[in-house]
Amino acid sequence: MTTLQRAEAAEHALSQELDRVVVKSVIFTSGERDPRQPVPRPPDDGRLYMMGHDPRLPKMPDKPTLFDFFRYRFGPSMHLLQSARLAMKNGVSEKIVLACLLHDIAIAGFIRSDHGYWGAQLLEPYVDEEVAWGIRYHQALRFFPDESVGYRYPELYVKLFGADYVPEPHIQEAHRYARNHKWYITSRLITVNDLYSFDPSVKVELEEFTDVVGRHFRQPKEGLGFDQSPSAHMWRTINWPTRYL
Ligand SMILES: [Fe+2]
Ligand SMILES: [Fe+2]
Repeated sequence: MTTLQRAEAAEHALSQELDRVVVKSVIFTSGERDPRQPVPRPPDDGRLYMMGHDPRLPKMPDKPTLFDFFRYRFGPSMHLLQSARLAMKNGVSEKIVLACLLHDIAIAGFIRSDHGYWGAQLLEPYVDEEVAWGIRYHQALRFFPDESVGYRYPELYVKLFGADYVPEPHIQEAHRYARNHKWYITSRLITVNDLYSFDPSVKVELEEFTDVVGRHFRQPKEGLGFDQSPSAHMWRTINWPTRYL
C-alpha cells in the first residue's frame, strides 16, 4: 500500500465508526485522483448522511466569532500573529495591522491556491474595503520587489519555486493594476510585514489583537456563517466542511 492508500484506509475505518456517512467534496482530493471519476464514498449501511457538525472536529460555538475560527478551524497561525505584531511595531495604522493579522487566513483554514483572493472574499463583508483590497493583491505583490519601501523578492520563494520561476500573466497583470492603485501601499505594507523567518520561541497571543479586531472587524451578531452576508456560506463551509449539501 502506498502512503496515500494507507491514509485512505485509516480514514475509511474512521468514517465507518461515524454514525453519519461522510462524502468528501471534490476539491478535498482534487489533484490526487482523476476528477472525471466518481467521488469515492463509503457504503452507507443504512446510515444517514452528514448534514451538520462532524464529531471528528472540535465543535464551534453556535455564533462563532473570528477568534473562534482561529481557535477551532485554522491551522497554527503564528505566521499571522507575528506579522501583525511586526506591523504594530513598525507603527502602521490599525487597519493595516488587521490586514496583516488576516492576510493568509485562506491558507490557514480554507484553500491555499489563490489565497489572496479567497481571503479577500471571506473578509469583504466585515472589514474596510481597503483592508480586503490589500489582502487580495498581496498575493501578487509578493512576487515583485519594491526597493522604495525595502521589499525584496523573498528568498523563500527561490527555495520554494526555483530561481527561474516567473509569475503567470494574470498575476503580472494584477501587480500592474495594484501598483497604480490608490491603495497600493496598503497591500504593499502587508508584504513588507509578511514575516516568514519568524522566531518559533516567541509566542504571540490572539488576545493581543482583541482591540484592533473589535474596532475594525464587524463581527455579525448571528455569528460568522449565519448572517446572510455574501461570504457567509464560505465561513459555514469552514465550520462544517463535510456536510453532504
Ligand atoms: Fe500570503
Ligand atoms: Fe503571509
